[in-house]
Amino acid sequence: MHFEKTSLFLIAASTVLAVVVSKNVGDYIWDITQYQAGLSHGNPADPTTSWYRFTVSGSIYGSIESESYIPAFEALCTGSGAEFPLSSDYSNCAMDSTPGELAVSVSARIVPYVDNTQAHIAINYVFTTADGARNYTATAVTDWARLRAPYNFTLSPSEVP
Ligand SMILES: *[C@@H]1O[C@H](CO)[C@@H](O)[C@H](O)[C@H]1NC(C)=O
Ligand SMILES: *[C@@H]1O[C@H](CO)[C@@H](O)[C@H](O)[C@H]1NC(C)=O
Repeated sequence: MHFEKTSLFLIAASTVLAVVVSKNVGDYIWDITQYQAGLSHGNPADPTTSWYRFTVSGSIYGSIESESYIPAFEALCTGSGAEFPLSSDYSNCAMDSTPGELAVSVSARIVPYVDNTQAHIAINYVFTTADGARNYTATAVTDWARLRAPYNFTLSPSEVP
């Protein structure tokens, strides 16, 4: 019993490590909360569709006059994927009603990956500055939930050039 608990803990810890993107912007992070990504049948050998639901948010980063400034945002992302490997186009997330004044849109998609053993979900955040649109992205790599309750983790987004 004790051994099983330890193993589960190690699996959970390695899942969180796997989602950390190495190329990031200083200490800027996004909070992913109430995250769920699942297969329609709960059977990884025979998936037909997949779905996700989570909230993503980022606090203000940098001061408003600085080049590194990133406005705050929060959005609820829901969507579904199909085909083999599972994939979807970007679909808009529902922005919180009071995002930072420069925040434009948040969207997410299921990125096809060699097989369906894990969920690869890309998240995009676009906002405007005096110099034009800027676009940050991060990809969550997680196990497809089976009976797992919604959970929280952080991602380190990087800027799309
Ligand atoms: C943001 O970057 C992603 C990934 O490269 C791209 O698919 C998307 O079209 C970009 N969005 C905007 C508004 O530039
Ligand atoms: C995840 O974060 C939300 C919002 O902060 C919180 O209500 C919830 O209890 C957290 N869930 C877990 C599993 O820690």
